[in-house]
Amino acid sequence: MALPSLLLVVAALAGGVRPPLARNLTLAVVLPEHNLSYAWAWPRVGPAVALAVEALGRALPVDLRFVSSELDGACSEYLAPLRAVDLKLYHDPDLLLGPGCVYPAASVARFASHWRLPLLTAGAVASGFAAKSEHYRTLVRTGPSAPKLGEFVVTLHGHFNWTTRAALLYLDARTDDRPHYFTVEGVFEALQGNNLSVQHHVYAREPGGPEQATHFIRSNGRIVYICGPLEMLHEILLQAQRENLTNGDYVFFYLDVFGESLRAGRPWQDNRTWEQAQALREAFQMVLVITYREPPNPEYQEFQNRLLIRAREDFGVELAPSLMNLIAGCFYDGILLYAEVLKETIQEGGTREDGLRIVEKMQGRRYHGVTGLVVMDKNNDRETDFVLWAMGDLDSGDFQPAAHYSGAEKQIWWTGRPIPWVKGAPPLDNPPCAFDLDDPSCDKTPFSTLAIVALGTGITFIIFGVSSFLIFR
Ligand SMILES: *[C@@H]1O[C@H](CO)[C@@H](O)[C@H](O)[C@H]1NC(C)=O
Ligand SMILES: *[C@@H]1O[C@H](CO)[C@@H](O)[C@H](O)[C@H]1NC(C)=O
Ligand SMILES: *[C@@H]1O[C@H](CO)[C@@H](O)[C@H](O)[C@H]1NC(C)=O
Ligand SMILES: *[C@@H]1O[C@H](CO)[C@@H](O)[C@H](O)[C@H]1NC(C)=O
Ligand SMILES: *[C@@H]1O[C@H](CO)[C@@H](O)[C@H](O)[C@H]1NC(C)=O
Ligand SMILES: *[C@@H]1O[C@H](CO)[C@@H](O)[C@H](O)[C@H]1NC(C)=O
Repeated sequence: MALPSLLLVVAALAGGVRPPLARNLTLAVVLPEHNLSYAWAWPRVGPAVALAVEALGRALPVDLRFVSSELDGACSEYLAPLRAVDLKLYHDPDLLLGPGCVYPAASVARFASHWRLPLLTAGAVASGFAAKSEHYRTLVRTGPSAPKLGEFVVTLHGHFNWTTRAALLYLDARTDDRPHYFTVEGVFEALQGNNLSVQHHVYAREPGGPEQATHFIRSNGRIVYICGPLEMLHEILLQAQRENLTNGDYVFFYLDVFGESLRAGRPWQDNRTWEQAQALREAFQMVLVITYREPPNPEYQEFQNRLLIRAREDFGVELAPSLMNLIAGCFYDGILLYAEVLKETIQEGGTREDGLRIVEKMQGRRYHGVTGLVVMDKNNDRETDFVLWAMGDLDSGDFQPAAHYSGAEKQIWWTGRPIPWVKGAPPLDNPPCAFDLDDPSCDKTPFSTLAIVALGTGITFIIFGVSSFLIFR
């Protein structure tokens, strides 16, 4: 508790408590400065922040402070909290915008919570933030998060009557921010929370990796979730195709939240030989891709156009239209949502220093933003919409939306395009005698039904064989 009281003394010496709104709002940002592979890189989010500040205009003038959390091209969980402490000491911000990577977000969120400072992000998807403990009580996520993906998957399982088991495979590199791990974790926790038996396997990108993967799949599930680069999915599916795992008994959900595999519409296409390409194309009939949903409202397209122009003009980067821009849009909506809540707080006699009160007022709120309807849950996580894609056109192999999921309504809307199930119906998650070998009806002794039939057939053959032998004699 030494730090806050010391700051109070400093503030008092510097001229005491300022009247509300006499100064500009100080908005401090902690994000990776250059690496565009992060959807929350500053050249992607900066233009959205600029647009939000302009939208607020003279009603709420903003002083913007940016510090980078990037070290050697990667998110740094060491640099981010150091820089956040500097920001606090030198600029005493009213609102902190930032870390999108999970580990830096965890440490910055602890400081922000201690300072009672609202921390707004549209990244940091990890499940660990969802039950806002006292460590993360000022964290507000106006973007997608892994627990919301979990909710979607649970709804899917309900629809298909898959209540028993599932298997998860993902790629995990300790050197990065573990995006695949934190994405799949949402699915794991949600299914396990619904009493499914969920096994998981870390994919090894080395010789033997695909064989280990299919072995794991075979013995653990029929409903399979895969999270990793597209190349990893291809390696697994080629092996699955070789082992006849794509005959309709299995379904492979590919978690590709930014829809990068769908950019050309055909996630099975690659630079392989013709035979391998055909095998992949066939295997992809049992693949369903899960992505975030691009907001369908016209304001979003207009926002995206302005975002791309500002990114070119202000940051000198060429961004493509892609689902990554959704994150920038969610930062934009977060800032405007904060401003709305701040205005209300001040009208009720509060101040911008009432961080906890402001954060509390954001809980459960609904707000019409550029990314559509923003619905915050009671933990200050935004409800997230998803799309389920399937090979809608077997001739061309093009993937098309089979369903949309509304996070606010917890409901799936089917587009009417049928999913091309190889066997005409979705696979069972727990087919008889596949996993529960203790079941007495799955008896494997020689006197099982099958064996008796076989024995009977054999005897019949012998009899006929003997009689025909006799006839020919
Ligand atoms: C407040 O913000 C406006 C617009 O960004 C800027 O022109 C002005 O100088 C700022 N005022 C102070 C006191 O920093
Ligand atoms: C940017 O980040 C990605 C993902 O962590 C990493 O693979 C890549 O090497 C980084 N780029 C640079 C230039 O460091
Ligand atoms: C799930 O089970 C219910 C009741 O047994 C059935 O009516 C429904 O058609 C099943 N759904 C699917 C997708 O198989
Ligand atoms: C899971 O199982 C436990 C114990 O059998 C039960 O209390 C709980 O309600 C179940 N949860 C769900 C979501 O079905
Ligand atoms: C593959 O599975 C299908 C359907 O279960 C079966 O009919 C076929 O004989 C299997 N093929 C091989 C080579 O095992
Ligand atoms: C396809 O290209 C990628 C790089 O573009 C390479 O890593 C991969 O090995 C190639 N695959 C084949 C089968 O040639």
